[in-house]
Amino acid sequence: MGRRKLAAGNWKMNGVKAALAEIEALEAAYPAPDCDVLICPPATLISAMAAVGNTVKVGGQDCHANASGAHTGDISAEILADAGASAVLVGHSERRADHGESDADVNAKAEAAWRAGLIAVICVGETEAERTAGKALDIVGGQLAGSVPAGATGENTVVAYEPVWAIGTGLVPTLEDIAEMHDFMRAELAKSHPAAFDDFRLLYGGSVKPSNAAEIFAVSNVDGGLVGGASLKAADFGGIIKAASEG
Ligand code: 13P
Repeated sequence: MGRRKLAAGNWKMNGVKAALAEIEALEAAYPAPDCDVLICPPATLISAMAAVGNTVKVGGQDCHANASGAHTGDISAEILADAGASAVLVGHSERRADHGESDADVNAKAEAAWRAGLIAVICVGETEAERTAGKALDIVGGQLAGSVPAGATGENTVVAYEPVWAIGTGLVPTLEDIAEMHDFMRAELAKSHPAAFDDFRLLYGGSVKPSNAAEIFAVSNVDGGLVGGASLKAADFGGIIKAASEG
């Protein structure tokens, strides 16, 4: 109800300067879509992408909880904001797996994002083994409880459900399973954030493509997508923007 859809792209560890042509192509093809558009490139491209982007807003893929200091190789939310970012992903499953990030770490990063004026896109999702064991709702419920700080609102926070087994595999949950999870997340947030729960945008991520985006975005409580592989090329991501605009 009243939630504007969001087409978000996560370029992960892909993208050099030449890839900015994809943003120019998106801007030319979709000057005023009826949805919000966000791309999270490698940090090296944020500044240049923010200069090219107008409809396309730019985000980081991770941030440190601190504003500055002796943390070689890390980047703070304040530095991302200074480069032109308006949002940052926190708790992506690849960060949780590759860097051992806990729910408490993700919670602190979300608060760091807000401190810098960024929207926190908080990612959650179960593994294949957890789903097979019938624990998907429990796992995601626990991640929400641990990762979404008390101060979250529809303005400063987006939640992305990305089942780990659907990322980069071409596998997608059934529409019924997506609806079950998104309805569950809304209900959990209603308990933890009673004043804001109806305002949060809840994204689905995991093998979203132009060919399946419209049906996924039409599912109950799905307010857009977080897209990996299909966000790298304007021809593909354009189809996803179109689906979000029409959904
Ligand atoms: P794919 O769209 O490539 O499956 O990646 C999803 C993802 O992890 C986005 O953050």
